[in-house]
Amino acid sequence: MNDITIQSYFGRIARYYETVNRIMSFGAVLLWRRKLIKQIKAVCREGVIEKIVDLACGTGELTFLLKKAYPSTEVIGIDFCPEMLKIAKNKANKQLSIKFLEGNAESLPLPDQSTDIVTISFGFRNFQNQTQALKEIHRILKPNGHLFILEFSQPLKCLRPIYFWYLKSIAPNILGQLLGLKAPYKHLGDSVFAFYPPEALTQKIEQHSFKLRHLQSATLSIVSFHYFRKM
Ligand SMILES: C[S@@+](CC[C@H](N)C(=O)[O-])C[C@H]1O[C@@H](n2cnc3c(N)ncnc32)[C@H](O)[C@@H]1O
Repeated sequence: MNDITIQSYFGRIARYYETVNRIMSFGAVLLWRRKLIKQIKAVCREGVIEKIVDLACGTGELTFLLKKAYPSTEVIGIDFCPEMLKIAKNKANKQLSIKFLEGNAESLPLPDQSTDIVTISFGFRNFQNQTQALKEIHRILKPNGHLFILEFSQPLKCLRPIYFWYLKSIAPNILGQLLGLKAPYKHLGDSVFAFYPPEALTQKIEQHSFKLRHLQSATLSIVSFHYFRKM
């Protein structure tokens, strides 16, 4: 898989993205993003937060929550898929001034040490060159900057057979077939199935000069919340 394929998958599912996500997660995706905001508010209490970057922002679901939580902070959403960004931009209004930029996580369009917080919700596992993305995140974060990653995880062992059957069969065969988008939904199931367990993800990120501060699994370990500081 390469960036062009991933980009085109998200381009094809963009207009269904939010609805399908809600249906497939039985609404849990909304709670997970709110939980992430609560976590950010709880840990970033000291100092002024001048800039937040929501990386792989997609249609901006988390970006808007961030702006509501930090109205006087500059909030920037970045994604490499124009179709996803178009939906995000259409939703933006004058009260919530958010900058949405087209850009690849592997080459971020931002200066060195310019950002206080980077968030990534359900984006990291799609990065084809995660090492380069981590270097870029490290570059744009200020010293001691905050990195929050919300990602799918490996659910509890007893749940795995039914969960992976659901992801690998129901999603591509029913939803994918129905919408004529079998390949993108197959990618979703495959990418979750192949993704690191939380400890391995932590190890990978810590290799790039970040230090884990908090790790929490939620919803029978279907997702995990990682919080790192730049070293
Ligand atoms: C599953 S969506 C998540 C969107 C959003 N963060 C959310 O919580 O709904 C993954 C997003 O990652 C973006 N993406 C994947 N690889 C990327 C990369 N290398 N650079 C920028 N965006 C990327 C895709 O275009 C897609 O919009």
